[in-house]
This record gives sequence, C-alpha cells and structure tokens, in this order.
Amino acid sequence: MSQQSETLEKKREFEFTHKEFKKLSGLIHELTGIVLGDHKQDMLYGRLARRLRQLGLKTFSQYCELLDSQKGDEETSFLVNAVTTNLTKFFREHHHFDTLTEHLLKLSTDTKRRSQSSSVLIWSAGCSSGEEPYSIATTVQDKVPALRNWDVKILATDLDTNMLNHGRAGIYKSDALKGLPEGYTSTLKDNVSVSGDRFELKDRIKQMVHFKQLNLLHQWPMKQKYDVIFCRNVLIYFDNATKEQLVERYTDMLRPGGRLFLGHSESLQRLPRSLKLTGRTAYVKEA
Ligand SMILES: C[S@@+](CC[C@H](N)C(=O)[O-])C[C@H]1O[C@@H](n2cnc3c(N)ncnc32)[C@H](O)[C@@H]1O
Repeated sequence: MSQQSETLEKKREFEFTHKEFKKLSGLIHELTGIVLGDHKQDMLYGRLARRLRQLGLKTFSQYCELLDSQKGDEETSFLVNAVTTNLTKFFREHHHFDTLTEHLLKLSTDTKRRSQSSSVLIWSAGCSSGEEPYSIATTVQDKVPALRNWDVKILATDLDTNMLNHGRAGIYKSDALKGLPEGYTSTLKDNVSVSGDRFELKDRIKQMVHFKQLNLLHQWPMKQKYDVIFCRNVLIYFDNATKEQLVERYTDMLRPGGRLFLGHSESLQRLPRSLKLTGRTAYVKEA
C-alpha cells in the first residue's frame, strides 16, 4: 500500500486495513455476486462508516468480528443494503419501452396465445426502488389498452429490502416527472396523484406490480415462464461467469418469442443458442 493511502487511513475516523477490505469484499461477493475491486476500498468505507457509528464500533476489525459472530446473519442484510448501487429512474433507456410496447401490441392481437392464456408475465429483476417496474406498468396501461382485460402481472425483485419498501410505497419526488422522454410524459402523469412535492402511483398501477426480495444468485421460486424480463444495470456489478450463468437462466425462464432487456453497457459476448439480438441490448428467445 502506498505511503499516501497509509496516511489517509490514519486520518480516518475508523481504522480500515486492506486485509479487512479483502475480507468484506469477499463476503459481499459470496452474498451478492457484486465484485468490489481494490479501487473500491474508499467507496466501501464511505458506505459503511455510518453503520459503524450507529453500532458504536471503533474499527472495521470490530465490524468484521460482528459479522463472524452469532449476530452476523442479522448484520449481513445491513451490509448488503449498504453496498448495492440503486441508481434508477423512470423510463431509463426509453427505447426499451418502445420495443416493449411493440411486443405487447403484437401479443395482444395473437388469438392463438389468447386462447391458451390471457395472462402476461413480466419480471423486473434488480428493480431497485420501483421506477423500472412502474414504467413497465404505466406503459402497459397507457400504450397497450387491448391488454387491460388481460391479467398482466409484473414481478419486481431486488436484494435490497430498503429499495423494495420504497417501491411498495410507490411515492416519489415530483422532480421525477420533469424531463421524461418524449412520448412518456403523459404515460406517467396520467397514472399518478400529485400532492405537494411528491406523487404516488395510482392503485390500478400498484396492483399490477408485486415486489419480492430475491437474490439473483439463489434459486428462483417462479414456476411459470415469462413474456418479458428486464435485468438492466445489474449484471454490470458481477463477474463474467456470473453474468453468463444469469443470462442462461433468464433465457430458460422466457417463453418462446419472449424478450430480454439488459442495460446499455451490458452487451453480451456469448449468447445462449436460442437468444438473438433484436435491438440495443434487447434480445428475443427464438420460438
Ligand atoms: C443500478 S440498480 C438498477 C435498477 C434498474 N434495473 C435500472 O436499470 O434502473 C441495480 C440493482 O440491482 C440490485 N442487485 C444487486 N445485486 C443483486 C443480487 N445478487 N440479487 C438481486 N438484486 C441485486 C441492487 O440492489 C440494485 O437495486
């Protein structure tokens, strides 16, 4: 370690050695799949300093001891919530919502499909505080009226329990209504009630979205196949092997003809055989 960073360490409120960083980043990788390279030590310090203060601890070594103790299991959920990056917004990468609309419009006129099942299943995997699944729900409501008589369910999962609670409440700062992409301003505005500097999604939208905690690295309890899966800006935090395994599993979870959307910087080197690129980080499972 350089002299400069040793001096930095001494100036910190809590002692945090590289060995402790390695221990914590190893545990985080095991728990979440998130890879924290050495350059993330300051970031991890910043994310956990408040927790150490809350717990009345003096050093990261004491925090590592707590995680190793009987109370460790309880503490891991605080650790996980502290390290996830939850940045999101309504209609992020809005071209995906155009593709979603096209796909659902086609599906809604498919009489063969309708005769088999009038339910549509969509999964927002790594949904953060809910902006993504609510963008999906309001798109369905506003742009695909033919689906209003269908049973459209949106499963919204994340590891971070704080984000899931935020999503369930469905209340956001009014600033989120500004600067929406062209064509989506009324899609959101028509489906919310504004009060002061906040807005809340209307019940008809909330009812379509089901928030559940799910670690993507664990087994998935869902039995049915999905029409659409969004997993955007999540894979970026994982190593290549984990990314590839997840994409294989998403492909298995899709119905033939189903769509997978990834984040803009998550284009795939190797695709499962039945998955084909159809647009910017948008994929279709071949029928
Ligand atoms: C940057 S947000 C992406 C939110 C949204 N999909 C979007 O694109 O705007 C990444 C989310 O992935 C979640 N996440 C990270 N690792 C996870 C895991 N192993 N299982 C489930 N969710 C995870 C984080 O908690 C975080 O909310």
